[in-house]
Amino acid sequence: MVTMETLVSLCKRRGFVFQSSEIYGGTGSCWDYGPLGVELKNKIKRVWWRDFVQQRADMVGLDASILMHPTVWKASGHVDHFTDPMVDCLECRHRFRADQLDEMPWVHFCPATKGNKFTIPAEETCPHCHERRTLCPDCGKGELTPPRQFNLMFKTFMGPVEEDAAVTYLRPETAQGIFVNFENVLQSMRRKLPFGIGQIGKAFRNEITPGNFIFRTREFEQMEIEYFVNPHDTVEGRPADEHWHDRWIEDCLAWFRRYGVQAENLRLHEHERAELAHYSKRTADLQYRFPIGWSELMGIANRTDFDLKQHAKWSGKALTYFDEERKEHVVPFVIEPSAGVDRALLAFLADAYREEEVRGEKRVVLRFHPELAPVSVAVLPLLKKRDDIVRTAHAIRDELSRHFTAVYDDTAAIGRLYRRQDEVGTPYCVTVDVQTVGDTDRGEAADGKVTIRDRDSMEQIRVEASQLVAVFGELIGGKSWAEVSARVGRS
Ligand code: GAP
Repeated sequence: MVTMETLVSLCKRRGFVFQSSEIYGGTGSCWDYGPLGVELKNKIKRVWWRDFVQQRADMVGLDASILMHPTVWKASGHVDHFTDPMVDCLECRHRFRADQLDEMPWVHFCPATKGNKFTIPAEETCPHCHERRTLCPDCGKGELTPPRQFNLMFKTFMGPVEEDAAVTYLRPETAQGIFVNFENVLQSMRRKLPFGIGQIGKAFRNEITPGNFIFRTREFEQMEIEYFVNPHDTVEGRPADEHWHDRWIEDCLAWFRRYGVQAENLRLHEHERAELAHYSKRTADLQYRFPIGWSELMGIANRTDFDLKQHAKWSGKALTYFDEERKEHVVPFVIEPSAGVDRALLAFLADAYREEEVRGEKRVVLRFHPELAPVSVAVLPLLKKRDDIVRTAHAIRDELSRHFTAVYDDTAAIGRLYRRQDEVGTPYCVTVDVQTVGDTDRGEAADGKVTIRDRDSMEQIRVEASQLVAVFGELIGGKSWAEVSARVGRS
């Protein structure tokens, strides 16, 4: 498994992710997506939106505002309950989440070895004095304060006056924007239950201990679905909400598998009763084996009718659905698949990373699914001194870029260019050479063909340049290299 240090370094070196405001020393836990990172992120969001919102007849989309009426957060329970227990070290002033202290390695000055300093792995006792951690895990010297509850919402003021009446919050989840628009969508789109509303957008949490690169940050993006179900319906003899909960768990798992995440790196974690959020009847997390260990990639919760009932109570508006068959108003139950875009990106990145040996040399390759790769096709001239080759390569890139993400690169020899594209996960390279354009001095006619190189097998085929759009349409659209290359012809 690749380490987080390796990924962070590759992301910076190759333009995926940069530390935010780096020239000023960086902003804690904020990251900027560079030229390749933004392509990867946009592609993840695009396929999620296409697969879960556009292609499903039972789904519609929404883009609600980040700043909402402050009462939304009273009704949702975030003002009162969206807190983490926080402790401070009285010596080094570092701050920790009280419930995560046992999951951290800890610094220890061991009395049994004349005060020698050791770093003891999480949850272990000192092998010399057999003590457990009681002091600050970072400095090993300071007492910790008793836990205090800390609200994770970012406060801000609406309008020019900074007074209590103007306080509002940056949304800590996109979900509430969907609940408060339930009635609008129901009426405007004439929906019948079950149906869902999907949304992608930024969320903000003033995390006490952000970290592990883009895994836990204070500003992040979510891809959320609220799927509304009639609680009185049954499907295959089971309550409809329970049936749809299982269906969404399967669909989410299948989605990550479809875009290449290896089965052995995905697992489900059922929340124990004590772990459940106040609104949840059942929650299952999809966990990924991140470089930091098994951790939550996304959650799929049965939020019952909690949110709609709360917003009805606080707004005074009836948020119900009229069940024509039973001639009654019902408050739908809600199944919520909720994924972090940044966490999904980290999982796709870690899963794609390979170090291979090719002819005695190390090759680093990101085996991204072709639909997710930040660059779909790189067009490379074999000789950058030949104007006609360079011109042809630019023309091919221009044509391909109308359909795919295509780049041109002539800044190194061809072997180096291939390696560079491997390292950023480009599934296909196109090379333009002398045969493509011909050589009048030698009386050789142009054959109009180019070489396509496949990232994973490193095989090459020669095809008519005029066929490239069609060939990449098939390859990026899901056909295998083996199938397409066998038909188009091996070099
Ligand atoms: N609406 C439900 C909800 O927000 P959550 O488990 O708190 O549930 C859902 O968040 C997903 O959002 C998580 O599974 C994770 O992928 C992502 N997420 C949550 N907090 C995050 C953070 N601080 N940084 C990055 N991603 C985060």
